[in-house]
Amino acid sequence: MTDSQFSLAGKVALVSGASRGIGAAIAQQLASAGAYVVCTSRKRESCAETVAAIQQQGGHGEAMAMHIGDPTAIEAVFSKLDAEDRTPHLLVNNAAANPYFGPAIDMDLGAYEKTVEVNLRGYFWVTVQAARRMKSLGGGAIVNIASVNAKRAAPGQLIYSMTKAGIVNMTEGFAKELAPLGIRVNAVLPGLTDTKFASALTQNPKILDMMLRLIPLARVAQPEEMAPVVQFLLSPAAGYITGACFPVDGGYLA
Ligand SMILES: NC(=O)c1ccc[n+]([C@@H]2O[C@H](COP(=O)([O-])OP(=O)(O)OC[C@H]3O[C@@H](n4cnc5c(N)ncnc54)[C@H](OP(=O)(O)O)[C@@H]3O)[C@@H](O)[C@H]2O)c1
Repeated sequence: MTDSQFSLAGKVALVSGASRGIGAAIAQQLASAGAYVVCTSRKRESCAETVAAIQQQGGHGEAMAMHIGDPTAIEAVFSKLDAEDRTPHLLVNNAAANPYFGPAIDMDLGAYEKTVEVNLRGYFWVTVQAARRMKSLGGGAIVNIASVNAKRAAPGQLIYSMTKAGIVNMTEGFAKELAPLGIRVNAVLPGLTDTKFASALTQNPKILDMMLRLIPLARVAQPEEMAPVVQFLLSPAAGYITGACFPVDGGYLA
């Protein structure tokens, strides 16, 4: 296998939730592999730092606002990219919501709806917009960032876990539907990773200690550790891989 099989040169990649954490690390990795990276999150300004880091490394990209809970905002981003002649060949669905932590029987329907709107409808509608265009481009590749919670529901995060399981099923379904169009779809299942998202777990010494006992490598991952597998899955090196789920979890699911 040559280095060029891992190259993303000449490709446009769209990453949701690229302003910080795992999405920012993925955006930088894809840019270093040669892709032009469209970095999105709810506010364009929030992605400025990621784009600056990409440019500092000699890469290329731009920031755009795309609230994935808003189907109209999603459609507008794809139309704008079409007009700029930057229709994405590659997509990473990464932005997710987890507005409620606690017993499911105590939660209200608002938190449920927000989680489903962002994590399921958002991933679905971004994928539909991207895949329609990848069809015209003659192919593409998509990676969905799910979670180990997709395979092992976590207490206190029931709705979030349900949506992550849905993302795995969505990955498998789209992989089958889109394979004839030359579009591959895979998922990455991060374990506990040191980001703002997980701070309620990582900043609580009791919870952290309990979680580290369940992780064979006995540490929290850094966001940068999620990025190489995403590059691989988007690259020609993974040309025969679709519908697969890759845990990057220090052995948690083993
Ligand atoms: N950290 C972990 O332990 C862990 C474990 C398993 C899976 N994951 C998954 O990894 C992914 C990234 O999480 P992270 O830990 O990197 O979280 P993070 O540091 O909190 O980053 C979340 C990103 O998503 C953006 N975002 C949030 N809601 C959005 C929305 N409605 N529309 C568009 N962008 C939105 C945020 O940007 P703005 O605030 O600027 O919009 C930010 O860029 C998520 O899918 C999460 O479920 C994380």
